[in-house]
Amino acid sequence: MAAEGRRLAFVGAGAVATGPAAPGPVRHPAWDDVGLRTGVGVGVEDGRIALVAPDDEVGEWFHAARSPDALVQCGGRLITAGLVDPHTHALFGKPRLEDHARRARGDDYKAIAAAGGGILSSVADFRSRSEDALVALALPRLAMMAALGTTAVEIKSGYGLAVEHELKALRAIARLRNEVPLQVVATFLGAHEVPADYRSRRDAYLRLVIEEMLPAVAHGRLASFCDVFCEPGVFSVAESEAILTAASGLGLGLKVHADELDPSGGAELAARLGAASADHLGAISPAGVEALAASETAAVLLPGTLVFLGRSRQAPARALLEAGAIVALASDFNPGSSPSANLPLMMALAVSQARLQPEEAFVAATANAAHAVRLEGGRGTLAVGAPADLVVWNCRDVRELAYWYGIPLAWRVYASGCPCLGGGWGISSPGSAGTVLSPPMS
Ligand code: NIG
Ligand code: FE
Repeated sequence: MAAEGRRLAFVGAGAVATGPAAPGPVRHPAWDDVGLRTGVGVGVEDGRIALVAPDDEVGEWFHAARSPDALVQCGGRLITAGLVDPHTHALFGKPRLEDHARRARGDDYKAIAAAGGGILSSVADFRSRSEDALVALALPRLAMMAALGTTAVEIKSGYGLAVEHELKALRAIARLRNEVPLQVVATFLGAHEVPADYRSRRDAYLRLVIEEMLPAVAHGRLASFCDVFCEPGVFSVAESEAILTAASGLGLGLKVHADELDPSGGAELAARLGAASADHLGAISPAGVEALAASETAAVLLPGTLVFLGRSRQAPARALLEAGAIVALASDFNPGSSPSANLPLMMALAVSQARLQPEEAFVAATANAAHAVRLEGGRGTLAVGAPADLVVWNCRDVRELAYWYGIPLAWRVYASGCPCLGGGWGISSPGSAGTVLSPPMS
């Protein structure tokens, strides 16, 4: 949904962070990879970055246009590429409030699932809702994500766990892609859990996923990736491998929920199969760290999930970074373990809980996150020619993105050149989210 034939210009920025100079992910992110420039503005044409140049040049270029659209005076604010959220379960029905209360009484994630809460309670709820109702629920959630600075988002199925309901989920995600300017990436997660009616015959569920769901997903071109919840007590490494190998044979990219709570070799499996990402990694082994570091498989960290679940241990982010893994960040937005879609909050938690440096968190939520969902063409950066996914933030210093934790900081957000707040799509009253925190935080 590109904004055709329009020129936009952003001038008066305090700083512009263009992202890594070379295309692709960064293994040891440093300040150079943030690409900070001052005294420059950004020109956008036909939904793509057209130039990053001194303000007066950008101004001239804008006024020379046949169809100038908007000249945004940024008032000293920071401009960056839009954030990329490479792991969400944003298509769900009701929240799981009782799970949250139970956790506070001492029940853990698996005990809650065993007692009838957890993923399967979301499955029952999801199955009762129509595709239209699910789309209607997800649209304002995507608007909220955009308002928080996210311009590309991966969304997984996985609350259907039956052919009809998994396909309903993926069709709903396809509709969302057509209805919002955000870049929406679909992932099939039929192996999120074994549904109740297959508990005593899990082999039959594996066959259903491999022989019925996957072919239908692939032939309908309904997903880019197949994911599996590879975790002791959910799907074993052998079961995950069978599903992922079948998916790969049908042309799908691969992702793995790996070593989230207990180690099982999920990260090693992801690396061995050439998966796009291994996600969670709260309990990854040293061998898993080495395997990811030696691969193109992104290590997607979800620090909010472990905080929300009340876990004191985070994924070994420093070990992953120092070994040379491609580290990315995501929200894991879902009703059970991470009811937040606030990616800057995840950046702040990555710094305070997992010991990332702010520049590492920035690259992890932009260029490396784009790599984790294999978005190419410069997405996650402000490279000339890249889609104009761009955020003007209510702050001046990139480090603030990972600092004001939980505070919405985006002032203007554009996805492929389309405004997503401040009078644009999603948030209808002009500047409703954008002006709350104006003037800048610093
Ligand atoms: O990524 N780990 C599995 N899936 C989700 C939780 C989904 C849910 O609890 O509904 C996660 O944490
Ligand atoms: Fe997840």
